[in-house]
Amino acid sequence: MARKVFVTRRVFNEAISRLAAHVQTEMNPTDRVLTPDELAESINEVDGIMSMVTDSIDKELLDRTPDLKVVANFAVGYNNIDLMAATERGIMVTNTPGVLTETTADFAWTLLMAAARRVCESDRFVRAGRFEAWGPRALLGYDIHGKVLGLVGFGRIGQAVARRASGFAMKVVVHDPMEAPEQVVSKTGAMPVTLNEIWETSDFVSLHVPLLDETRHLINDTTLGKMKTSCILINTSRGPVVDEAALVRAIESNQIAGAALDVYERDPDIEEGLLRADSVVLAPHIASASHETRLEMCMIAADNLAPGLRGDRPKNLVNTDVWERRHR
Ligand code: DGY
Repeated sequence: MARKVFVTRRVFNEAISRLAAHVQTEMNPTDRVLTPDELAESINEVDGIMSMVTDSIDKELLDRTPDLKVVANFAVGYNNIDLMAATERGIMVTNTPGVLTETTADFAWTLLMAAARRVCESDRFVRAGRFEAWGPRALLGYDIHGKVLGLVGFGRIGQAVARRASGFAMKVVVHDPMEAPEQVVSKTGAMPVTLNEIWETSDFVSLHVPLLDETRHLINDTTLGKMKTSCILINTSRGPVVDEAALVRAIESNQIAGAALDVYERDPDIEEGLLRADSVVLAPHIASASHETRLEMCMIAADNLAPGLRGDRPKNLVNTDVWERRHR
Protein backbone atom coordinates (compact mmCIF):
# COMPACT_ATOMS: atom_id res chain seq x y z
CA MET A 1 0.00 0.00 0.00
CA ALA A 2 1.28 3.51 -0.84
CA ARG A 3 2.80 5.41 2.06
CA LYS A 4 0.92 8.53 3.15
CA VAL A 5 2.38 11.93 3.87
CA PHE A 6 0.75 15.06 5.27
CA VAL A 7 2.21 18.53 4.70
CA THR A 8 1.06 20.85 7.48
CA ARG A 9 1.07 24.20 5.61
CA ARG A 10 0.68 25.25 2.01
CA VAL A 11 4.13 24.83 0.46
CA PHE A 12 5.71 24.78 -3.00
CA ASN A 13 4.15 22.75 -5.82
CA GLU A 14 7.59 21.58 -6.94
CA ALA A 15 8.09 19.80 -3.62
CA ILE A 16 4.58 18.38 -3.61
CA SER A 17 5.12 16.93 -7.11
CA ARG A 18 8.41 15.42 -6.00
CA LEU A 19 6.74 13.80 -3.02
CA ALA A 20 3.72 12.68 -4.99
CA ALA A 21 6.02 10.65 -7.26
CA HIS A 22 6.82 8.42 -4.28
CA VAL A 23 4.00 8.68 -1.77
CA GLN A 24 0.36 9.60 -1.42
CA THR A 25 0.53 13.27 -0.46
CA GLU A 26 -1.97 15.52 1.21
CA MET A 27 -1.43 19.15 2.13
CA ASN A 28 -3.18 21.50 4.55
CA PRO A 29 -5.21 23.45 1.97
CA THR A 30 -5.37 26.55 4.14
CA ASP A 31 -2.30 28.52 5.00
CA ARG A 32 -3.10 28.72 8.67
CA VAL A 33 -1.51 26.86 11.55
CA LEU A 34 -3.70 23.87 12.40
CA THR A 35 -4.90 23.52 15.99
CA PRO A 36 -3.45 20.52 17.86
CA ASP A 37 -6.73 18.63 17.33
CA GLU A 38 -6.89 19.44 13.62
CA LEU A 39 -3.28 18.40 13.24
CA ALA A 40 -3.85 15.15 15.12
CA GLU A 41 -6.89 14.37 12.96
CA SER A 42 -5.00 15.12 9.75
CA ILE A 43 -2.10 12.87 10.60
CA ASN A 44 -3.61 9.97 12.50
CA GLU A 45 -3.07 7.53 9.66
CA VAL A 46 -0.01 8.93 7.93
CA ASP A 47 3.51 7.53 7.72
CA GLY A 48 5.27 10.86 7.39
CA ILE A 49 4.73 14.57 7.88
CA MET A 50 6.39 17.68 6.59
CA SER A 51 6.14 19.91 9.65
CA MET A 52 6.81 23.59 10.22
CA VAL A 53 8.24 25.53 13.16
CA THR A 54 4.64 26.54 13.87
CA ASP A 55 3.60 22.93 14.63
CA SER A 56 4.04 21.61 18.11
CA ILE A 57 5.03 17.97 17.66
CA ASP A 58 4.78 16.85 21.26
CA LYS A 59 4.17 13.55 23.12
CA GLU A 60 0.39 13.92 23.05
CA LEU A 61 0.40 14.38 19.29
CA LEU A 62 2.82 11.52 18.71
CA ASP A 63 0.61 9.24 20.83
CA ARG A 64 -2.23 9.98 18.42
CA THR A 65 -0.25 9.00 15.30
CA PRO A 66 0.68 5.33 15.67
CA ASP A 67 1.84 4.89 12.05
CA LEU A 68 4.20 7.86 11.98
CA LYS A 69 7.76 7.03 10.89
CA VAL A 70 9.32 10.29 9.69
CA VAL A 71 8.89 13.94 10.69
CA ALA A 72 10.66 16.18 8.17
CA ASN A 73 10.82 19.66 9.66
CA PHE A 74 10.86 22.51 7.14
CA ALA A 75 13.50 24.39 9.19
CA VAL A 76 16.98 24.06 10.52
CA GLY A 77 15.71 24.46 14.11
CA TYR A 78 13.60 21.68 15.59
CA ASN A 79 12.70 22.92 19.08
CA ASN A 80 9.04 22.57 18.04
CA ILE A 81 9.52 18.79 18.17
CA ASP A 82 9.85 16.70 21.32
CA LEU A 83 12.93 14.91 20.05
CA MET A 84 13.18 12.53 22.95
CA ALA A 85 9.55 11.43 22.56
CA ALA A 86 10.07 10.90 18.80
CA THR A 87 13.25 8.92 19.41
CA GLU A 88 11.55 6.71 22.02
CA ARG A 89 8.86 5.90 19.46
CA GLY A 90 11.41 5.15 16.72
CA ILE A 91 10.30 8.16 14.64
CA MET A 92 13.03 9.75 12.51
CA VAL A 93 13.26 13.55 12.67
CA THR A 94 15.02 15.55 9.97
CA ASN A 95 15.81 19.23 9.41
CA THR A 96 17.18 21.48 6.63
CA PRO A 97 20.65 22.63 7.71
CA GLY A 98 23.10 24.58 5.56
CA VAL A 99 20.77 25.84 2.89
CA LEU A 100 19.51 28.83 4.88
CA THR A 101 22.84 29.91 6.39
CA GLU A 102 23.69 32.75 4.00
CA THR A 103 20.10 33.99 3.69
CA THR A 104 19.71 34.16 7.46
CA ALA A 105 23.06 35.94 7.78
CA ASP A 106 21.92 38.45 5.14
CA PHE A 107 18.83 39.11 7.20
CA ALA A 108 20.69 39.50 10.50
CA TRP A 109 22.61 42.25 8.70
CA THR A 110 19.40 43.70 7.28
CA LEU A 111 18.04 44.01 10.82
CA LEU A 112 21.31 45.38 12.18
CA MET A 113 21.45 48.10 9.55
CA ALA A 114 17.74 48.91 9.78
CA ALA A 115 18.00 49.42 13.54
CA ALA A 116 21.32 51.29 13.47
CA ARG A 117 20.17 53.74 10.80
CA ARG A 118 16.51 53.92 11.86
CA VAL A 119 15.21 52.77 8.47
CA CYS A 120 11.75 51.67 9.62
CA GLU A 121 11.26 54.78 11.72
CA SER A 122 12.33 56.93 8.75
CA ASP A 123 9.85 55.14 6.52
CA ARG A 124 7.05 55.81 9.03
CA PHE A 125 8.18 59.43 9.26
CA VAL A 126 8.03 59.98 5.50
CA ARG A 127 4.69 58.21 5.08
CA ALA A 128 3.20 60.29 7.89
CA GLY A 129 3.96 63.41 5.81
CA ARG A 130 6.51 64.65 8.37
CA PHE A 131 9.43 65.06 5.92
CA GLU A 132 9.46 68.80 5.44
CA ALA A 133 13.16 69.45 4.89
CA TRP A 134 16.59 68.01 5.45
CA GLY A 135 17.44 68.40 9.15
CA PRO A 136 20.91 68.58 10.66
CA ARG A 137 19.82 66.44 13.62
CA ALA A 138 16.98 64.54 12.03
CA LEU A 139 16.76 60.80 12.68
CA LEU A 140 20.36 60.38 13.75
CA GLY A 141 21.45 56.77 13.94
CA TYR A 142 24.65 54.96 14.77
CA ASP A 143 27.60 54.21 12.51
CA ILE A 144 28.15 50.58 11.69
CA HIS A 145 31.63 50.71 10.16
CA GLY A 146 34.51 50.39 12.56
CA LYS A 147 32.30 49.23 15.44
CA VAL A 148 32.40 46.08 17.56
CA LEU A 149 30.07 43.26 16.56
CA GLY A 150 29.49 40.66 19.28
CA LEU A 151 28.24 37.28 18.14
CA VAL A 152 26.75 34.84 20.60
CA GLY A 153 26.88 31.45 18.90
CA PHE A 154 29.41 30.76 16.21
CA GLY A 155 27.97 27.94 14.19
CA ARG A 156 27.30 28.18 10.46
CA ILE A 157 25.09 31.27 10.67
CA GLY A 158 27.26 33.11 13.21
CA GLN A 159 30.29 32.55 10.98
CA ALA A 160 28.43 33.81 7.90
CA VAL A 161 27.44 36.97 9.81
CA ALA A 162 31.09 37.45 10.85
CA ARG A 163 32.35 37.13 7.27
CA ARG A 164 30.11 40.00 6.18
CA ALA A 165 31.52 42.27 8.93
CA SER A 166 34.89 42.59 7.21
CA GLY A 167 33.28 44.83 4.57
CA PHE A 168 32.44 47.24 7.36
CA ALA A 169 35.89 47.09 8.95
CA MET A 170 34.34 45.90 12.18
CA LYS A 171 35.99 44.16 15.08
CA VAL A 172 34.16 40.89 15.62
CA VAL A 173 34.12 39.26 19.04
CA VAL A 174 32.50 35.85 19.45
CA HIS A 175 31.43 33.47 22.15
CA ASP A 176 30.18 29.96 21.54
CA PRO A 177 29.91 27.40 24.30
CA MET A 178 30.64 24.70 21.67
CA GLU A 179 33.89 26.49 20.79
CA ALA A 180 34.44 26.58 17.05
CA PRO A 181 37.88 25.28 15.97
CA GLU A 182 40.56 27.97 16.09
CA GLN A 183 41.16 27.98 12.31
CA VAL A 184 37.45 28.60 11.68
CA VAL A 185 37.44 31.54 14.07
CA SER A 186 40.64 33.08 12.72
CA LYS A 187 39.52 32.64 9.09
CA THR A 188 36.63 35.00 9.74
CA GLY A 189 38.89 37.43 11.61
CA ALA A 190 36.79 37.03 14.76
CA MET A 191 38.19 37.03 18.26
CA PRO A 192 36.92 34.53 20.86
CA VAL A 193 36.03 36.24 24.15
CA THR A 194 33.98 35.55 27.29
CA LEU A 195 30.27 36.26 27.36
CA ASN A 196 30.89 39.17 29.71
CA GLU A 197 33.26 40.72 27.20
CA ILE A 198 30.58 40.40 24.52
CA TRP A 199 28.05 42.25 26.68
CA GLU A 200 30.50 44.91 27.83
CA THR A 201 32.33 45.75 24.60
CA SER A 202 29.89 45.23 21.74
CA ASP A 203 28.11 47.96 19.83
CA PHE A 204 25.90 45.31 18.25
CA VAL A 205 25.07 41.95 19.83
CA SER A 206 23.67 39.35 17.43
CA LEU A 207 22.31 36.02 18.70
CA HIS A 208 22.96 32.75 16.83
CA VAL A 209 22.37 30.02 19.40
CA PRO A 210 19.81 27.22 19.40
CA LEU A 211 17.11 27.23 22.08
CA LEU A 212 18.37 25.04 24.93
CA ASP A 213 17.89 25.13 28.69
CA GLU A 214 21.22 26.96 28.88
CA THR A 215 20.26 29.61 26.31
CA ARG A 216 16.67 30.33 27.46
CA HIS A 217 16.60 33.96 28.71
CA LEU A 218 20.32 34.37 28.08
CA ILE A 219 19.38 37.99 27.44
CA ASN A 220 17.89 39.14 30.75
CA ASP A 221 18.03 42.11 33.15
CA THR A 222 21.57 41.20 34.21
CA THR A 223 23.08 40.73 30.76
CA LEU A 224 21.25 43.76 29.35
CA GLY A 225 22.54 45.75 32.32
CA LYS A 226 26.11 45.05 31.24
CA MET A 227 25.62 46.31 27.68
CA LYS A 228 26.63 49.76 26.45
CA THR A 229 23.82 52.30 26.36
CA SER A 230 24.49 52.62 22.62
CA CYS A 231 24.22 48.85 22.03
CA ILE A 232 21.70 47.35 19.60
CA LEU A 233 20.52 43.75 20.08
CA ILE A 234 19.69 41.57 17.06
CA ASN A 235 17.85 38.27 17.36
CA THR A 236 17.36 35.90 14.42
CA SER A 237 17.77 32.76 16.55
CA ARG A 238 14.85 31.76 18.78
CA GLY A 239 12.52 34.08 20.69
CA PRO A 240 12.85 32.61 24.19
CA VAL A 241 16.61 33.29 24.16
CA VAL A 242 15.51 36.84 25.06
CA ASP A 243 13.49 37.68 28.16
CA GLU A 244 11.16 40.09 26.37
CA ALA A 245 9.91 41.81 29.52
CA ALA A 246 13.54 42.55 30.46
CA LEU A 247 14.21 43.83 26.97
CA VAL A 248 11.26 46.22 27.23
CA ARG A 249 12.64 47.49 30.55
CA ALA A 250 16.08 47.99 28.98
CA ILE A 251 14.65 49.86 25.98
CA GLU A 252 12.31 52.04 28.03
CA SER A 253 15.05 53.03 30.48
CA ASN A 254 17.54 53.65 27.63
CA GLN A 255 19.77 50.94 29.07
CA ILE A 256 20.39 49.93 25.44
CA ALA A 257 19.76 51.91 22.27
CA GLY A 258 17.55 49.54 20.37
CA ALA A 259 16.79 46.07 19.13
CA ALA A 260 15.88 44.28 15.93
CA LEU A 261 13.97 41.05 16.30
CA ASP A 262 12.76 38.36 13.92
CA VAL A 263 11.59 35.91 16.60
CA TYR A 264 9.60 36.27 19.80
CA GLU A 265 9.21 34.61 23.13
CA ARG A 266 5.56 33.73 22.52
CA ASP A 267 5.57 33.85 18.73
CA PRO A 268 3.37 35.34 17.19
CA ASP A 269 2.40 37.39 20.29
CA ILE A 270 4.73 40.27 20.94
CA GLU A 271 5.30 42.11 24.21
CA GLU A 272 3.29 45.35 24.10
CA GLY A 273 6.32 47.46 25.05
CA LEU A 274 8.20 46.28 21.96
CA LEU A 275 5.31 47.19 19.69
CA ARG A 276 5.33 50.69 21.19
CA ALA A 277 9.10 51.29 20.94
CA ASP A 278 10.29 53.29 17.94
CA SER A 279 13.85 52.07 18.42
CA VAL A 280 12.83 48.43 17.93
CA VAL A 281 12.60 46.86 14.47
CA LEU A 282 10.17 43.94 14.30
CA ALA A 283 10.02 41.27 11.59
CA PRO A 284 7.66 38.28 11.39
CA HIS A 285 10.15 35.36 11.50
CA ILE A 286 11.36 35.83 7.92
CA ALA A 287 15.14 35.49 8.21
CA SER A 288 15.20 32.53 5.80
CA ALA A 289 12.35 33.85 3.65
CA SER A 290 13.90 34.37 0.23
CA HIS A 291 12.28 32.78 -2.84
CA GLU A 292 15.38 30.67 -3.46
CA THR A 293 16.00 29.50 0.08
CA ARG A 294 12.45 28.65 1.11
CA LEU A 295 12.01 26.59 -2.05
CA GLU A 296 15.26 24.78 -1.41
CA MET A 297 14.33 24.14 2.24
CA CYS A 298 11.06 22.63 1.07
CA MET A 299 12.79 20.39 -1.48
CA ILE A 300 15.22 19.21 1.18
CA ALA A 301 12.37 18.40 3.56
CA ALA A 302 10.69 16.41 0.74
CA ASP A 303 13.96 14.64 -0.03
CA ASN A 304 14.31 13.65 3.61
CA LEU A 305 10.81 12.17 3.72
CA ALA A 306 10.95 9.84 0.73
CA PRO A 307 14.06 7.81 1.76
CA GLY A 308 12.96 7.77 5.40
CA LEU A 309 9.67 6.18 4.39
CA ARG A 310 11.43 3.64 2.16
CA GLY A 311 13.51 2.59 5.16
CA ASP A 312 16.69 4.35 4.02
CA ARG A 313 18.58 6.82 6.18
CA PRO A 314 17.49 10.41 5.40
CA LYS A 315 20.38 12.76 4.70
CA ASN A 316 19.54 15.23 7.46
CA LEU A 317 18.57 12.82 10.21
CA VAL A 318 18.71 14.60 13.57
CA ASN A 319 17.99 11.77 16.02
CA THR A 320 20.58 9.33 14.68
CA ASP A 321 19.88 7.02 17.66
CA VAL A 322 16.74 5.79 15.92
CA TRP A 323 18.79 4.62 12.95
CA GLU A 324 21.60 3.13 15.02
CA ARG A 325 19.16 1.22 17.22
CA ARG A 326 17.49 -0.25 14.13
CA HIS A 327 20.77 -1.31 12.50
CA ARG A 328 22.66 -2.52 15.52
C1 DGY B 1 14.50 27.67 10.94
O1 DGY B 1 14.82 27.15 9.88
O2 DGY B 1 14.78 27.16 12.03
C2 DGY B 1 13.75 28.95 10.86
O3 DGY B 1 13.45 29.48 12.10
C3 DGY B 1 12.50 28.82 10.02
O4 DGY B 1 12.87 29.29 8.78
